[in-house]
Amino acid sequence: MDEKLQVTNALAVALPDLELNEIKEKIERPKDSNNGDYAFPTFFLAKSLHKAPQMIASELIEKIDQTGFDKVMVAGPYINFFLNKANVGAEVLKSILNDPEHYGESDLGHKANITIDYSSPNIAKPMGMGHLRSTMIGEAIARILEKVNYNLIRIDYLGDWGTQFGKMMAAYEMWGNSQEVQDGLKNDPINTLLQLYVRINTEADEHPEYTDAGREWFAKLEHGDKEAWHLWHWFREISLERFQRVYKMLDVKFDSFNGEAFSAQKMEEPIQLLRDKGLLKKSRGAEIVDLDQFNLPPLLIIKSNGTTTYITRDLATALFRKRMYGHAKSLYVVGAEQEVYFKQLRMALKELGFNWWDQIEHISFGLMNLNGKKMSTRKGNVVSLEDVLNDSVDLARKQIAEKNPDLKNADEVAKQVGIGAVIFHDLKNYRQNAVNFKLEDVVKFEGETGPYVQYARARAESILRKGGIRDFSNVDLTQVGDGAWELISFLGQYGEAVKRAALNYDPSVVAKYALELAKKFNQYYAHNRILNDDPQQPARLALTQAVSHVLKSALALLDVKAPDEM
Ligand code: ARG
Repeated sequence: MDEKLQVTNALAVALPDLELNEIKEKIERPKDSNNGDYAFPTFFLAKSLHKAPQMIASELIEKIDQTGFDKVMVAGPYINFFLNKANVGAEVLKSILNDPEHYGESDLGHKANITIDYSSPNIAKPMGMGHLRSTMIGEAIARILEKVNYNLIRIDYLGDWGTQFGKMMAAYEMWGNSQEVQDGLKNDPINTLLQLYVRINTEADEHPEYTDAGREWFAKLEHGDKEAWHLWHWFREISLERFQRVYKMLDVKFDSFNGEAFSAQKMEEPIQLLRDKGLLKKSRGAEIVDLDQFNLPPLLIIKSNGTTTYITRDLATALFRKRMYGHAKSLYVVGAEQEVYFKQLRMALKELGFNWWDQIEHISFGLMNLNGKKMSTRKGNVVSLEDVLNDSVDLARKQIAEKNPDLKNADEVAKQVGIGAVIFHDLKNYRQNAVNFKLEDVVKFEGETGPYVQYARARAESILRKGGIRDFSNVDLTQVGDGAWELISFLGQYGEAVKRAALNYDPSVVAKYALELAKKFNQYYAHNRILNDDPQQPARLALTQAVSHVLKSALALLDVKAPDEM
């Protein structure tokens, strides 16, 4: 239940000329609880009513139905509302316990479709840290949007097309038959392909014919040559298989893996449209779209050698997605370095006259640094994502072994804690901020970490096991006691937090909410004996159960698991 709604409704009856939303917006939360739980200022009515605010307040209070409140009183120009905490609290607990799975849901989306393009790694290369961030941020946003009733279409837009595959094929043709390469392709296919690619690029300086060979292979591929197609398909399969291992560890599932190659087959339409609208200009043998009027660099649509580009494929992709999914929003979770690029994409669609150009949103994010160092694939300091996740699981396993040596499913829990820790660390700050990743800080049971939240919930579950009740339908929930109010009131704010996260595409709101809830529960636990064998014990256990449900729900929105014991 939304406590603010109770205040809004009481005021609405007394102020029939105002819109409900207008009233709701004006309601404040006083800093000092002596001024009530909510306060309604009357200044803004002074002009239209031609009266002093103090006067308005004292007249207004006469018209307010005070049932359900402890107290409603005038304080100068304000009306202060004191909630009946026992009743409000019982309502909050009841709505959580009755339907824990759906608690916090709302209907911002009305089931409208949203496509979300995330992860989107480039094949035949190891997945980079940027792609890991995209995967985690994208998945959390998708889950949050589902909670507010959007229908999500998850798309892994694989980078599986482009001249680099021509080079890779040329390299494979030259060196692929050696025993070393053949073994490598079996054991570590992606890195073996990467090595071939690096080798041909380095040696091409001395052997310009390698570059020509690469170009020929790509041309063959574009023209549907069987052998080229077969090689390309094979590169894609072994890459995807590898990516799937990371997705499985993270519990991420996509609806589509249509990548650049898929869109490469659909490029006539956007090119023709650009031509028809007179937007394509020749420039030094290439064809471009001028975006000067938007203060943006021109778009390179067709290169001087006749091949198309990343953006041409993205234009085709955008047209396809709109037609296929009829989306209300089309999100692209991609690093901040592509900010200008996505502005160009939006403006190009606008220039083409598509009124849905503004449904395209770039959900950008900052870099992830490993122990203070920037990570990049090009410079060779490649960090394997699987290694990062596995190291984190190992560290979690060690800590669990110390804390809880008898834990039965320790291995599974270590995975949930280790991987959850990495995800939580990535999501807890606003996505645009850079993230510094230091394993020892990430997998910690204290501080602002995922394991801290998981541990608070495991503690709640342990109390519940000892308490022995799981069905609270006959418990008088008004009996929790005043000491629980802050915690309960915070439980009541979960739905609002989820909405805020959804509107701003910002998982950190949910992560911060989960941290705060864990902290408040730990404080409550420190000051109140939950298992005290008195008549109020069932109500306190009900509260404990509600906290456990909401912590689990918030973690699930972030794609972090919640073990019952750890
Ligand atoms: N593969 C690209 C990269 O690694 C990201 C693709 C993002 N999605 C898109 N539709 N452009 O940079």
